[in-house]
Amino acid sequence: MRFAIVIMAAGKGTRLKSKRAKVLHQIGGKTLLEHVIAAATQIVPPEDVYVVVGHQAGAVQAAVAQTGVKFVTQAEQRGTGHAVQTARQAVSSYEHILVLSGDVPLLQPETIARMRDFHLSERAAMTILTAAPDNPHGYGRVLRKSPDSAEVVAIVEQKALTPEQQGVREINSGIYAFATEPLFNNINELTTANAHGEYYLTDMAGLLVNEGHRVTAIQAASATEVLGANTIAEMAELDAAMRLNTAHKLMAQGVTIYRPETTVIDSEVKVGADSIIEPFVQLLGDTHIGEDCRIRSYSVIENATLENHVLVRQGCIISESHVQAGALLGPYAHLRTGSEIGEEAHVGNFVETKKVRMGKGSKANHLSYLGDAEIGKGVNVGAGVITCNYDGVNKHRTLIEDGVFVGSDTTLVAPLVIGKGAYVAAGSCITEDVPADALALGRARQTTKTGWAKSRRSQIQAAKEVEKSR
Ligand code: UD1
Ligand code: CA
Repeated sequence: MRFAIVIMAAGKGTRLKSKRAKVLHQIGGKTLLEHVIAAATQIVPPEDVYVVVGHQAGAVQAAVAQTGVKFVTQAEQRGTGHAVQTARQAVSSYEHILVLSGDVPLLQPETIARMRDFHLSERAAMTILTAAPDNPHGYGRVLRKSPDSAEVVAIVEQKALTPEQQGVREINSGIYAFATEPLFNNINELTTANAHGEYYLTDMAGLLVNEGHRVTAIQAASATEVLGANTIAEMAELDAAMRLNTAHKLMAQGVTIYRPETTVIDSEVKVGADSIIEPFVQLLGDTHIGEDCRIRSYSVIENATLENHVLVRQGCIISESHVQAGALLGPYAHLRTGSEIGEEAHVGNFVETKKVRMGKGSKANHLSYLGDAEIGKGVNVGAGVITCNYDGVNKHRTLIEDGVFVGSDTTLVAPLVIGKGAYVAAGSCITEDVPADALALGRARQTTKTGWAKSRRSQIQAAKEVEKSR
């Protein structure tokens, strides 16, 4: 049987007090809507997913266009009932539809499937996914015919609860299954006679029951899964829940994470077995970490790949880079876009790299800037070495061949080639290519004036005595 999925994502999210549409806020490194679409497309192909957009429709569509879902525009946001009504033309040829909320992002595909199957087996006109959280405040409540009946009488929104209904803990998750025919035969009966003056989709429950249809409810396995994100604080809670979940998934695959609640790990991140993640580490975007790595505290790694046995010491910032096996980074190394660090290479304290390829076993241990450079194997880059890659207009490359030794505090003015096995003396300013196996010195010769300091001190002393005697 063909199902369509309708995702309601047109609302502004007034309670967030944000300029950005609610469904474009992120948790776990992805927008709310991307999470919901990811769950939906596990159930039906993307061409059967219809996203109702309205507030900031252009931005919302652009953000998820690559998923291949379809869009329905709700020009004016007149409530959840109106959102589904807007999708009528698009989905009325399907026998059943599943309705998801763009702001309920932890929902798992298994739960959607369970609701769908229950809906079909109960031959219901409407099925509501419910939950019983500790604090039901703010959610619509689901009134069953009797406590152990699958059948529902109505959904009552928070603001319309009678004092006795306040005690009902079973909430409406905002996720539903509908038989299309009774839904659209009755949807025009919805009214705006309520606290918000909106067309509530929740009123369909009572309407359908009054028309003699069967409306059922099924509870989600965990209340966390159906929590909504209506405020920034709720958003932060969902973010924490999602990231903790990601951390637990990684731990189940053999990764050690000390104090997982302090880490910030995006949902797509992969980490190999026997790697260790220390407290306060952030692993973001499309980051892949191999096996037997150790990521020490306060490091932030984004869209980077680390092969096996890499040690990242404290406080490193690594983005859009590739680090080969056995490399050693930090503390406080900054690997910027396009850094390719070779096997067993070292990039140490306060070293910044950008568009650099560094060969096997090469070392830059302290205080360097290496940009637009090709560094061979077994190169030693001394403390404070700087590639001067920018002349104010263009970027130039520095090529340092295998086995070169670059002394400390050297400036390498690109374009430049330092030939294989060459030595560059400390404190040099190198502006010309250095042939293989040569020694290049690019500094003024030292002059030493014997006794100069001593005679200077006695001059000062004599001047002071003249001053006093006046
Ligand atoms: C809704 C339910 C409530 C339930 C809760 C669960 C209604 C009336 N109430 O309340 O019973 O407990 O979800 O999270 O449905 N939207 C549109 N177009 C609109 C209005 C809303 O697309 O005109 C979208 C929103 O972008 C959002 C979703 O529908 O993604 C839910 O709307 P929201 O205003 O957040 O409803 P709640 O007040 O949370
Ligand atoms: Ca909501």
